[in-house]
Amino acid sequence: MRYMGIALHLLVGIASVHCLATSTIPAVQLNGVNGKVAMPMVGVGTGTDTNASAEQSVKTAFGVGYRHVDTAFLYGNQLGVGRALKEVGVPRDEYFVTSKIPPLNASDTAQVLDQCLHELGLEYVDLMLIHYDDPGICSSAQRKGQWLALEKWAKEGKARALGVSHYCKAQLEDILSVATVPIAVDQVQYHVGMGTAGPMANNDKSFIQSHGILYQSFSPLCGFCDPADKMESVNGSSVTEIGKAHNKSGVQISLKWLVQQGIPVIPRSGSKEHLESNADIFDFILSDTDMDRITMASKPAVAGGPISQDSGDCPAHTEVIV
Ligand SMILES: *[C@@H]1O[C@H](CO)[C@@H](O)[C@H](O)[C@H]1NC(C)=O
Ligand SMILES: *[C@@H]1O[C@H](CO)[C@@H](O)[C@H](O)[C@H]1NC(C)=O
Ligand SMILES: *[C@@H]1O[C@H](CO)[C@@H](O)[C@H](O)[C@H]1NC(C)=O
Ligand SMILES: *[C@@H]1O[C@H](CO)[C@@H](O)[C@H](O)[C@H]1NC(C)=O
Repeated sequence: MRYMGIALHLLVGIASVHCLATSTIPAVQLNGVNGKVAMPMVGVGTGTDTNASAEQSVKTAFGVGYRHVDTAFLYGNQLGVGRALKEVGVPRDEYFVTSKIPPLNASDTAQVLDQCLHELGLEYVDLMLIHYDDPGICSSAQRKGQWLALEKWAKEGKARALGVSHYCKAQLEDILSVATVPIAVDQVQYHVGMGTAGPMANNDKSFIQSHGILYQSFSPLCGFCDPADKMESVNGSSVTEIGKAHNKSGVQISLKWLVQQGIPVIPRSGSKEHLESNADIFDFILSDTDMDRITMASKPAVAGGPISQDSGDCPAHTEVIV
């Protein structure tokens, strides 16, 4: 018993050394269904994960102090995420889960929302998003109907906040015209290289923010960009030089540029080392000069994704918005 006690004490000691950086991840406040909801500024993404790799990366992330995971019905890995959450055993009110459902009609929406909870093994999610706007399916009426179905479900206590992803001004205006609960978040592609991107490329960032909707970044390191372009946010000269002055990597500077603007990030990684360093960005401040220099960067390119939805969603939808 005595030795077990010592061993446990040592384990806790080691764990807390590794958790030092990530235990200090600050939160941002969202406009939830019943008031403010705190979302940790760094979470673990699962965008291209299988059940097994999602399970592993969520377990590793929570082991080093993360308390925020981002998944989606269409990722097909919510069972793996759910298994990890059960295994880590963190109290439910101490972590934040985002899920997303595709564009659907109202009756399918209700069914798929419940399926998400079932797969995750949860009674509620912290944030549920409409995943994207599909020009082939989405009309103004469909959008409004789906949002109201989300509201009904959330009011049953199944989501603490609601939002959208890949939405531009015109789609948001549809929702705003019927919403009785706030649109908490619009999750869109945003990363170094897009600092001077216009409204069409950054999904109407200023419109989003002026309506109290949190602008959240996906692909914060432009995972889908052309590989040569993408390296600019990893070892490009601006982020590397600025990083040297702060004893940080280029990746840490790229992520810091976002969180210092109040934009939460969800970089995907299964590596313990990367998960730790991705969250170890809250013990320094970038100067205005550093921030401006990174804002001026034009790489990775704005429309970096393989499909139009990956960034600059607005042009793809202009013709179908009614
Ligand atoms: C995860 O498991 C579910 C249930 O077995 C399965 O339907 C889904 O395809 C799996 N996901 C992946 C990415 O293999
Ligand atoms: C909703 O869409 C599904 C197809 O995905 C269809 O089978 C169903 O009839 C639709 N329901 C309504 C009420 O339109
Ligand atoms: C950045 O890393 C890539 C891939 O490892 C390498 O090809 C490239 O030369 C590096 N660039 C610089 C500026 O070090
Ligand atoms: C620089 O960062 C590394 C890794 O985080 C750390 O091990 C090292 O002690 C730091 N060096 C200084 C001078 O702070």
